[in-house]
Amino acid sequence: MHKSVLLEESIDGLNIKKSGKYIDATLGYAGHSKEILKRLETEGFLFAFDQDETAVKKSEELLSKISKNYKIFHTNFKNMKDFVKEQVDGILFDLGVSSPELDDASRGFSFHKDGPLDMRMDKRSTKTAYDVVNNYRLDELINLLYCYGEEANAKSIAKAIVNNRPINTTLELAEIIKSSVPESYRNKSNPCRKTFQAIRIEVNDELKVLESSLKDAFDLLNSGGRLCVISFHSLEDRIVKEYFRTLTTDNVLAKNLPVVPDELKKKAVLITKKPITPSDSELNINNRSRSAKLRIIEKI
Ligand SMILES: C[S@@+](CC[C@H](N)C(=O)[O-])C[C@H]1O[C@@H](n2cnc3c(N)ncnc32)[C@H](O)[C@@H]1O
Repeated sequence: MHKSVLLEESIDGLNIKKSGKYIDATLGYAGHSKEILKRLETEGFLFAFDQDETAVKKSEELLSKISKNYKIFHTNFKNMKDFVKEQVDGILFDLGVSSPELDDASRGFSFHKDGPLDMRMDKRSTKTAYDVVNNYRLDELINLLYCYGEEANAKSIAKAIVNNRPINTTLELAEIIKSSVPESYRNKSNPCRKTFQAIRIEVNDELKVLESSLKDAFDLLNSGGRLCVISFHSLEDRIVKEYFRTLTTDNVLAKNLPVVPDELKKKAVLITKKPITPSDSELNINNRSRSAKLRIIEKI
């Protein structure tokens, strides 16, 4: 049975009030949403977002059995402000793809199982992994693998991709990556992980969407409201950490002022001085959680 990553820690972090309003920005298979709903009474309400149609359908089935106090939106969380027109008491982002998305070979996220080069979380969007792998110029691919994969072998992998086109499936791509990296690298870790991550980020525009969505989410919070974000790789975590830092420190312009004007004062308090990471027992159950980090702030 799949267990949501950092479940107790993030639910505790939301500090749920029985009659509060909450947003689950990344519904997935409703692991977190279910726990939020269990803690709400009749006045409370949950808005949930997911761009994956299957996740929305499955979660609707599941949640309809336990509550009426929720609404699911099948859309990117970047559109949150268009759908939620009131202030809320807590928002959770559990970023990235879900285990069921990863495990379903036909979605094309996995380098262990053969499937089409797809990687779209939202099947309505047009750009697929096939487009990136087969149509991007060499320099675009190198850049992509450096920036979104932090892949030291970006050049050799990108060249191998370009030289082996057309590439049709995930395992074809995986083989090409493996054969293009030094043997030492091949033995150290899975040499496909970073390239697959980079392509997935590009296909779903994950990092650009995250920055703007965190800002929108913070705007939607009531004073005293909590923002909890679980990230799964350093690029995501850097964005979260940096944004939280700007919110939880006075603006540098305030440094030498005898009285700090409100607009330059910090806007939130950091609840997690250091990010919360999975316990050893959680890592034993769910190895995918190994790089997860939970950061929490509270709006002043
Ligand atoms: C890690 S899973 C969430 C798992 C969920 N918390 C649970 O307990 O089952 C992330 C989910 O967010 C969705 N997702 C990722 N980025 C999104 C975005 N920008 N907009 C909407 N949904 C997104 C994915 O489709 C996936 O279902």
